[in-house]
Amino acid sequence: MLKRILVSTTLIGLVYNVVAFDPAAAAMAAGPTRGKHAMVASQHEIASRIGLEIMKKGGNAVDAAVAVGLALAVVYPEAGNLGGGGFMLIRMPKGDVHSIDYRETAPTAAARDVYIDGCGNLIKGEGSPTVGYRASGVPGTLAGFELAFQKYGSGKLKWRDLVEPARLAARDGYVLSNRVVELFKTYKETLNRFEDSRRIFLNNGAMFAEGDLLRQPELAATLGRIEKNGASEIYTGRTARMIADDMRAHGGLLTYEDLKAYKAKERTPIRGSYRGYPIISIPPPSSGGIVMLEVLNMLEGFDIRSKQYNSAAKYHLLIEAMRRAFADRAEFMGDPDFTDVPVERLTSRTYAELRRRTIDANHASASINVGHGEIPGSESTDTTNFAVVDDAGMAVVNTYTINDLFGSRVTAKGTGILMNDEMDDFAARPGQPNMFGLIQGERNAVGSGKRPLSSMTPTIVLRKDGTFWFGLGARGGPRIISAVLQSVINVIDHDMDIQRAIDAPRVHHQWLPDELVFEPYGISPDTLALLSEMGHKFAAKPEYVAAATGVMLDDKGVRLGAVDVRSDGLAVGY
Ligand code: DON
Repeated sequence: MLKRILVSTTLIGLVYNVVAFDPAAAAMAAGPTRGKHAMVASQHEIASRIGLEIMKKGGNAVDAAVAVGLALAVVYPEAGNLGGGGFMLIRMPKGDVHSIDYRETAPTAAARDVYIDGCGNLIKGEGSPTVGYRASGVPGTLAGFELAFQKYGSGKLKWRDLVEPARLAARDGYVLSNRVVELFKTYKETLNRFEDSRRIFLNNGAMFAEGDLLRQPELAATLGRIEKNGASEIYTGRTARMIADDMRAHGGLLTYEDLKAYKAKERTPIRGSYRGYPIISIPPPSSGGIVMLEVLNMLEGFDIRSKQYNSAAKYHLLIEAMRRAFADRAEFMGDPDFTDVPVERLTSRTYAELRRRTIDANHASASINVGHGEIPGSESTDTTNFAVVDDAGMAVVNTYTINDLFGSRVTAKGTGILMNDEMDDFAARPGQPNMFGLIQGERNAVGSGKRPLSSMTPTIVLRKDGTFWFGLGARGGPRIISAVLQSVINVIDHDMDIQRAIDAPRVHHQWLPDELVFEPYGISPDTLALLSEMGHKFAAKPEYVAAATGVMLDDKGVRLGAVDVRSDGLAVGY
């Protein structure tokens, strides 16, 4: 690696498309964490260690994943949650795969135009789908975790064993990192508007400093009740009443009846392959699996391997494929229980071939001229990430969220639970961008009981003989898809291990806005110049493209774990 960097840097300025020396590349040299038996990669060290302990006590990867998810709800408050939702992808040691959809649902009161004011404009600020009491969908996390535990857990550990480490972390506190203290500052203005959020996360206005202890006694008490009553605590128990009362007192949409009606769902995972390697990912209501497979199917028709991983030649093809797949996302995707999503057609090679033919090898298309593809007829409806692998080879990749950092910023009174602002993932006004700049269509319009379209992409890739190779996912809105798919390409086409694949600089294009997002230190001016000559447009300033975590089995079966250099967290194994 070092040699490659040295050679590359000496060539900069002489030849286009070489690897520029950059901190991310330097960090790659560290390589993944290794463990003979089991591995957990998550965005907080405490949560990863809790997961590993669970497996040492005889729990399997699902038990560990549930414990990690509960722990992150305490030690990673900006995204870990009880008040949000997500997707869990499970691969059993014998190879069967399962996916659990515990995405939030829109409250009954959420009619199509609930976020549009009397003048036909999107409501901003209070009352919007992004901040405050009206922003939350019905949380799915506990229903999803309980389903996973009951159906796919080892049966050797009790539910209580998985909740207790999180409860203790909430009761006894944990040391705040500089990163989260800075985040509290960044989100101070909106967290400050809500009494419990202000008290808990802003230290009652006094603010926390790096190294302070954050204790969350209400959350500890809630977790204590969850320990005894299971997920029902949050759907029909005292906690459900507390959430519903607080929502009612502040004009929220979510009611006790909505909580009571919530169900996590098992859905058939979506399958495809890239250059012969089977890929398993998450189906709608996430767009992640479909968009990723569409891009990979388009790219399969090009020789990517012979191109430098961050060359203009490769990025051009990648951007054009992303542009087309994201245009399809806007048109065809939504909650499969409410709209037909043509999954098979969109992920088919024939369709990719048609889409690929519209790519000009030398010139960028303008997004405005790239519509969605043609899907004849209709099909029947079939429709902060962490990754765990256990000693028996069971693998779990889980992505869950409260959407924005600290969600709606509302902590439901007395519960310690930060609520999501997942309603912004709907097209609150079809055709108008959401917080991620995504333009979305009618199929993802707001509707009672509907699940908003997601970009979460927990994914598992198998070796050609059908055994587990690696699993990964990311956080970062629609950039999740770009991060996961480029990591897959980095492993398969560019021979990187999981750490390098995740750390390597990457780009993002989501059709609209028609601009390429590139990373600080991530792309050379030469490459940008070449892309510009081809007609590509760029974001005003560089930004990081999501943050991933993953696990991999090397060819000797050693478990490798990786946490993105772009984020906090730790992979731990034994
Ligand atoms: O489901 C989605 O696509 C978004 N709610 C994910 C949000 C996200 O990743 C925010 N992370 N930084």
